[in-house]
Amino acid sequence: MSNITTVILAAGKSSRFKGSISKLLFPLCGLPIISHIYEVARKISGKNIIIVCNEDNITELKPILKNCKFVIQKKQLGTAHALEQTKNKINTENILVLFGDTPLIETSNLKKLIKKFNSSKSIASIIAFKTANPHGYGRIINDNKNVKEIIEEINLSNEQKKINLCNSGILVANKRLLFENIKKIKINKVKNERYLPEIFKILFKKKLTTNFIECNEESMWGVNTLNDFSIVQSILQKKYIEKFIDNGVNFLNPDSCYINYDAKIEPDVVIESNVTIKSNTSIKKNTIIRSNSYLEGVKIHEGCSIGPSARIRPLSTIGKNTKVGNFVEIKNSKIGNKVSIAHLSYVGDSEVGNNVNIGAGAITCNYDGKKKHKTIIKNNVFIGSNSSLIAPILIEAKSTIAAGSVITKNVPRKSLAIERSNLKILRNKTLK
Ligand code: UD1
Ligand code: MG
Repeated sequence: MSNITTVILAAGKSSRFKGSISKLLFPLCGLPIISHIYEVARKISGKNIIIVCNEDNITELKPILKNCKFVIQKKQLGTAHALEQTKNKINTENILVLFGDTPLIETSNLKKLIKKFNSSKSIASIIAFKTANPHGYGRIINDNKNVKEIIEEINLSNEQKKINLCNSGILVANKRLLFENIKKIKINKVKNERYLPEIFKILFKKKLTTNFIECNEESMWGVNTLNDFSIVQSILQKKYIEKFIDNGVNFLNPDSCYINYDAKIEPDVVIESNVTIKSNTSIKKNTIIRSNSYLEGVKIHEGCSIGPSARIRPLSTIGKNTKVGNFVEIKNSKIGNKVSIAHLSYVGDSEVGNNVNIGAGAITCNYDGKKKHKTIIKNNVFIGSNSSLIAPILIEAKSTIAAGSVITKNVPRKSLAIERSNLKILRNKTLK
């Protein structure tokens, strides 16, 4: 929409979060809290976005939020003061205010709000929600049409504390009238801050139209404490997983799994219990991810069986119909089709061809204490159990590595490489 600028207030000091970094940078399902809001804002106002930040978090926010303006609020004197910092930067008729700490907002909620604002010729409209536990939220006092006043928790009378119609913080307003009246917001003596929601009392007194729409509680949850964070994360996880289930992914124990925001999983994939899917991971159809597997930065092709208890680390690709079994770790490796790495192996910085069998406990020794080296295993190779391949090394096609061997030289095609000391069997002897 071309006549609207979105302002995201993100200058607060996260004092209730008790962490060392700004809460807005906390990765929520892999994406910083603020980025969730930013993505929604882009859908509403394109590049017309202004972030109000503080002198500390600007250096962290700038690299992750591209194509928007930044304004610094030097002192945290409240949400009204924060918004005032943008006054000379907005060229549109209307302004949408979002809080940097409400990451579950949806584009559809904002579109509904803007529709109401436009159709009712309102001066300021907000999103409200009802909750059984309103503690901490500003409460909305309204007549049937207008928002009369929003009172913050610290200023509520005991009677008002029972009100369960809450302010989400999200508002859309006419820019000119908003800035004309925002000056009149006084300092709230309890916290020494100027509170943006007080604008409604001022507008109501002037008989200007103000109203609200109601949305569901879940999408309006504000992240003020670590407890809020974990609640918001589980709401979002549930949403992601439900979406995959609707698309035909079979989660056997959905509540036990973690899925990153950017996971790509095709229909007809089965996901067992306690599976963690971190960033940059995609899984093609007819693959099964067995319990306790941990996947990050991996492209898994169709028809694979992964785990139980497999760990695949970034920059890896698993070919079609390949098996990666229990206690196998794979890192920065390209594994071909119909490969079996069924138990207890480490494959790092490797290229493995098709139809390769890697026996139990086989290890690619990729690190010499200073540098990482590459292992190349060509098609149809058999790597015997408990063998060590000292990289850099090349095992050519159709070769066999005998179990227990330590391989330090390249192995040519169709060869058997065996490295074992002679076995002695001494009858009727003991070690003593
Ligand atoms: C705010 C609202 C409350 C609403 C709730 C919804 C106010 C005074 N209260 O309370 O009515 O129910 O959100 O979640 O607005 N910020 C600044 N500069 C400041 C202070 C805050 O940029 O000086 C930013 C924060 O980074 C945050 C947002 O404004 O993203 C809201 O501030 P926060 O302190 O979280 O307000 P709440 O107490 O949650
Ligand atoms: Mg908040």
